[in-house]
Amino acid sequence: MSSPDPQDRPKKAKDDLDHGPEPGSLEATNFWDVIYGRRSVRRFRSDPIPRELTDKVMHAGIWAPSSCNYQMWDVVAVDDPELNAELAQLSTQMGNAPVNLVISYGRDFSEEGSANIQSASAMIQNMSLAAHALGLGTFWITQMGDNEKLRERVGLPYDRLVIAVLALGYPDKDGTRAPGRRPLERVTHYNQYAGEPIPSSTNPADWTPQLLALYQRARVLNGLRHNKPRAWEVRALETMLEQLVPEGIEKVEDDGQAQHWLDVLPCNGILTERLSRERKGYHFDIVERSPEVAAFVAKRTRPRANPFGWPESAQDEDFPAPEAGKYDVVSCLFRLEDIAPGDRSALIADMHSWLRPGGRLILGYVSRKSFHQTTESLRKRRGGPGGVEYVLSPDPNIGPFEALAPKEVEGMVRGAGFAIEQSIGLQAVPQAEEIEFRTRNFSGRTKKVVGLIAGTLAAFEKLPGLQKTRGRFRFLAARKA
Ligand SMILES: Cc1cc2nc3c(=O)[nH]c(=O)nc-3n(C[C@H](O)[C@H](O)[C@H](O)COP(=O)(O)O)c2cc1C
Repeated sequence: MSSPDPQDRPKKAKDDLDHGPEPGSLEATNFWDVIYGRRSVRRFRSDPIPRELTDKVMHAGIWAPSSCNYQMWDVVAVDDPELNAELAQLSTQMGNAPVNLVISYGRDFSEEGSANIQSASAMIQNMSLAAHALGLGTFWITQMGDNEKLRERVGLPYDRLVIAVLALGYPDKDGTRAPGRRPLERVTHYNQYAGEPIPSSTNPADWTPQLLALYQRARVLNGLRHNKPRAWEVRALETMLEQLVPEGIEKVEDDGQAQHWLDVLPCNGILTERLSRERKGYHFDIVERSPEVAAFVAKRTRPRANPFGWPESAQDEDFPAPEAGKYDVVSCLFRLEDIAPGDRSALIADMHSWLRPGGRLILGYVSRKSFHQTTESLRKRRGGPGGVEYVLSPDPNIGPFEALAPKEVEGMVRGAGFAIEQSIGLQAVPQAEEIEFRTRNFSGRTKKVVGLIAGTLAAFEKLPGLQKTRGRFRFLAARKA
């Protein structure tokens, strides 16, 4: 195989076919290094890419298989910085690399079995691997904002459906650590499927506790993508702390006098980290579904939290249950929502057992009696402005999720033997930062309209009593008798 000479680009073989590189003319590359060494690169140097290199990458692309070898693909390589800046207006993801390869395929062609998408995907993967072999980096972009606008902007006819964009450039730094993969034996089978699938449903009733543990463990070990605190959530947490746990801000001199706080099912640990920073008078422990997730969270707290296991099936000698009757505070923030409805009361009863007499339960959850339901249905319709998947709703990236009815939650808490002392509702309308974040890939005009709506909503939120009854985030403090 040989590298295609870019100078040959305008020339055509007599039969108007590309017969591939000359045998023996390509630099030797270790195939396995390319397969296992390719990484999604999201930060690039600004240096332009010589077109001969871009051609080499695209040439590898056209040697991918396609349905019936019809090759109904067209790729537009955008290397004009001004045009790329315009593409970045459609989606910020296209604002990272010096070249954006816009990959399209015959819109209605071979739609049976989505053969158009499959053929284009084979081409994209070939290009990703070729780029890596050439010392370039790529990342595969499906969040393109409005792909019809993108198609028009690069002059592709209606017949061509934009499938994805492949960002291409010189990597800014080497050695990005590979996000792990789910183990071979769990996802591959001989002759008959013999596994237990992780559901794609976001309904908690469809998940067993074991699958949830497995999924969250995989998410954490693979590197959570949305592992950042969101400003509006942190604000809600701070308001909750001010109102429900005003004490324990300062570190106590004698560590032995610190009070004990158990945070239940913190998963990514974003909120636990914040709690341990804001309430230094407490020593934090955590309880999780797997030792790996527990270790991940423990590292985020200062001093390091002791990890415990829940439910009973997850516990062993090295990963025991939390000590009964020990804790001054037990918190469970936005985690009852991912548990199957039948198991929620059991967790609340266990939290009761971990508290000392007189200790407090702090529960935070997303209320079903809030705008959350509306934004969820918008997201599900996927027909929201710009077709963006997540319109104003929390990222359900750590498993299933369902908003809860306040009456039911309060009933369960009382049923476990608690006396509810305080209950607050926060954020009755989507917050400005959240609206900005969720609509960041919308077009300029839609963003403006959404901005105006955000302003109106902010005024609306000041109506007396609205937050308490219609707040998306509900927190309650309950005491163990
Ligand atoms: C169909 C598809 C769509 C993807 N979309 C995006 C995207 O929109 N943005 C992004 O940053 N990465 C995207 N990726 C890259 C994946 O996040 C990445 O491949 C995965 O995390 C594994 O990392 P690795 O490629 O370094 O092995 C996409 C990958 C595929 C196959």
